[in-house]
Amino acid sequence: MPPMQTSREIMAKVSESAAYLAGRFPADPSIGIILGSGLGNFKSRISIDLEIPYSEIPHFPVSTVEGHSGRLLFGTVSGRPVLAMAGRFHFYEGYGPDDVVFPVRVMKRLGVQTLLLSNAAGGTNPDFSVGDVMVITDHIGLATVNPLLGRNIEELGPRFPDMSEPYCRELVAKAEEAAAEHGLQIRKGVYFGVTGPSFETRAEYRMIRILGGDAVGMSTVQEVVAAVHMGMKVFAVSIITDMGIREEENRITHEEVLEAAAQAEPRLSLLLTSLIEKL
Ligand code: HPA
Repeated sequence: MPPMQTSREIMAKVSESAAYLAGRFPADPSIGIILGSGLGNFKSRISIDLEIPYSEIPHFPVSTVEGHSGRLLFGTVSGRPVLAMAGRFHFYEGYGPDDVVFPVRVMKRLGVQTLLLSNAAGGTNPDFSVGDVMVITDHIGLATVNPLLGRNIEELGPRFPDMSEPYCRELVAKAEEAAAEHGLQIRKGVYFGVTGPSFETRAEYRMIRILGGDAVGMSTVQEVVAAVHMGMKVFAVSIITDMGIREEENRITHEEVLEAAAQAEPRLSLLLTSLIEKL
């Protein structure tokens, strides 16, 4: 893992990235979106004004995983200005927690107040099935590395941020309304964050269930912690791409995850679009 950066170094990089982006796209979107594994098709719902590969943005890490295209998109969804990341940075790729949350900090600097995230996750709630859309109501992040470790960046938020409502209840209620209006079945549940990259053992899936997780995944938690630290409103949704509690055949592959994500994608896109219309 790279050595921890100082707060001053982090903020200098955030400022430079944000200044570069503001120079290329002066409008300031208040909605940020981070699209998860195999879920980049939401892109087709965005009227894109400008698309910037991460490699062109100063200090942006570069995404490596299959299924992540690595572009920042400026555009509108139903007329609302958005800034979307197609492809995110995962701790398991070797990025430090500072890198994983870097784009979220840049988004905030660019004026984003509401952050919408999607991810692929393994179901541990036996009532769930592959393809389900789960709105995240809370998370368990103790098995990940907290991105706020180290000296607190006071200009971003408090040393000990409150985490009683990391996922904005008002946004969850709006998503439920949107789902009902479109006849979409959604689940609600607790996301259990892990580092990956290995999928969980049978015993681990069982443990996650016992500890209160409805789904388990390798992203989201660090980004949400950084967003909440900065006072952003957060909404996140998981696509259940595999079930971690099958008794006999329990092999899980990345291909299977991507395929299930692609199948569920239209429902996720509909949910996000209609939520955005309500913001
Ligand atoms: N475990 C962890 N992360 C995941 C899974 C899983 O089963 N499926 C998709 N991402």
